Amino acid sequence: MVASTWHHGVVARWWAEFNTSGPEIDYFRRFAEAGPALDLACGTGRLLLPYLRDGLDVDGSDVSADMLACCREAAEREGLAPNLYAQPKHELDLPRRYRTVFMCGGLGVGSTRAEDMQAMERVYDHLEPGGTFVLDNEVPYADGWGWQYWQPDGRATLPLPRREPGKRRVGSDGTEYELRSRLLDVDPLEQRVMMEMQAFMWRDGELVAEDEHLLTLTLYFKDEIVLMLERAGFVDVTVRAALTDAEPMGADDFLVYTACKPAALPSSDGRG
Ligand SMILES: C[S@@+](CC[C@H](N)C(=O)[O-])C[C@H]1O[C@@H](n2cnc3c(N)ncnc32)[C@H](O)[C@@H]1O
Repeated sequence: MVASTWHHGVVARWWAEFNTSGPEIDYFRRFAEAGPALDLACGTGRLLLPYLRDGLDVDGSDVSADMLACCREAAEREGLAPNLYAQPKHELDLPRRYRTVFMCGGLGVGSTRAEDMQAMERVYDHLEPGGTFVLDNEVPYADGWGWQYWQPDGRATLPLPRREPGKRRVGSDGTEYELRSRLLDVDPLEQRVMMEMQAFMWRDGELVAEDEHLLTLTLYFKDEIVLMLERAGFVDVTVRAALTDAEPMGADDFLVYTACKPAALPSSDGRG
């Protein structure tokens, strides 16, 4: 099974155009401040760009060269020159070691369970002793949509039909965009969902680009992530409600995990 993501081509442009804000920017800032930091799966720089603007020492990495190109363009417009690396997270291999690695919206996106486990090990190896890994993750039951497709009767109805054309969004230069997605398959044993994603772009009313991608999403429950982090060698793993840092509750859609690399410890070989 090869995992894939849709964050290329038109979708990268969409992200650069429309996904530039959100409360996660302020939430993750304190981790970036404890740098040097790596923004893992940084995308088009929604978090990275504001931090660089504030003079923080943050590098970025992402599997998608297109997302990184948009990030670099936006950075250069402001006279910034970030270190950006195009690498899948499970093969992370960077020249630097970090005090903090943070990952917002990246776990299980475009990766299999084995790759996510490997990615945690790669992060561990990229942290200084005593460093921190922090990541958020949406709980699998967040919006309640689609559980019927995890059962045999529901799975038999997949793939769902393609959607009809919907509402377009207009970018800053008048370019119009539309994204359409549909569920193709669910693998309940692997807790994996496969989506087909279509992206369209029009200029002056004419369709100028049309992309189609597969998006693999691996879904995780809280304790799986804790166990994976511990298996990668992390200690003092904590789980909090995202954005508030409150004790997590069943109603929380997003959870934040922080995990420490021991201050003086065996290298990665010492993992349990
Ligand atoms: C939901 S976006 C989040 C982007 C950014 N962190 C933010 O919050 O704006 C997920 C990102 O994960 C990246 N991604 C998907 N699969 C990946 C992989 N295997 N390794 C590294 N990055 C990956 C995508 O290219 C995309 O930029």
